[in-house]
Amino acid sequence: MTRTIVVHSHRGGTGKSSVLANLALLLAAAGRRVGVVDTDLQSPTLDLLFGVAPGAGSLADYLLGRCEIEAAARRTSVPGLYVVPARTGTAALRELMATGYDVGLLPEGFERLAHSHALDVLLLDTHAGLNNESVTAMGSADVVLIMTRADRIDLSGVEETIALAGRLACRRALVLSMAPEGVDHEAVRRRAEEVYGTPLAGILPYVPEMAALYGERIFAEAFPDHPLVGEFRTILTALDARDEVSRA
Ligand SMILES: Nc1ncnc2c1ncn2[C@@H]1O[C@H](COP(=O)(O)OP(=O)(O)OP(=O)(O)O)[C@@H](O)[C@H]1O
Ligand SMILES: [Mg+2]
Repeated sequence: MTRTIVVHSHRGGTGKSSVLANLALLLAAAGRRVGVVDTDLQSPTLDLLFGVAPGAGSLADYLLGRCEIEAAARRTSVPGLYVVPARTGTAALRELMATGYDVGLLPEGFERLAHSHALDVLLLDTHAGLNNESVTAMGSADVVLIMTRADRIDLSGVEETIALAGRLACRRALVLSMAPEGVDHEAVRRRAEEVYGTPLAGILPYVPEMAALYGERIFAEAFPDHPLVGEFRTILTALDARDEVSRA
């Protein structure tokens, strides 16, 4: 049975794609079969992060009926890790914006991919905020990993996303991202759980080495012994503890 995890945030730049790429790498390194789909059609990232070669075969091509989802899943240099890039180039996006597409193709594609590649875990990256792709991805999820910075505007969106995920009957896990130095982790954890009724799956500090990587490499590969990688593992453990991820 494939476990589907959606990584989402209300505002952009919280570290969704970076965290997703690291979780995917760690899961694959632990022997799990992992699929990653970049549903961020507006600003794709995972093709660059995973070094996917340009060319036909992307989520956009699938949504336009130009290829099967299986054909859009690219092998990566990591055994057992497959990536479906959002799009390659802008032509397909222009077309999708002009003609629209059947959103039902998204859950159908996720399911087919999970089945055809015998995935243990399917990770879905999203564009920030609420749009067709992110809401549909949440509708297919077992867990929504909600990333937020310690910022009033980010946090106001958390409430909205938690409510939506609850209506979609998927479990929720919160991650505080880019936490400034000196943050009292225990106090933050207690407060988050009290305010949102949703456990904090992890607190990720702001790490300059991560920002300086320039998206050239995935952090866990470049700095396998860094404490931040330990925090990624903590998130994975929290996601594995199925009953504890959310009180929904
Ligand atoms: N913990 C961290 N510390 C420092 N920099 C980070 C951290 N996490 C991510 N970054 C950096 O922040 C930038 C934005 O990260 P990323 O693209 O993963 O965010 P995102 O939420 O996916 O953005 P978008 O909403 O545009 O899709 C990247 O340059 C990344 O390297
Ligand atoms: Mg992103």
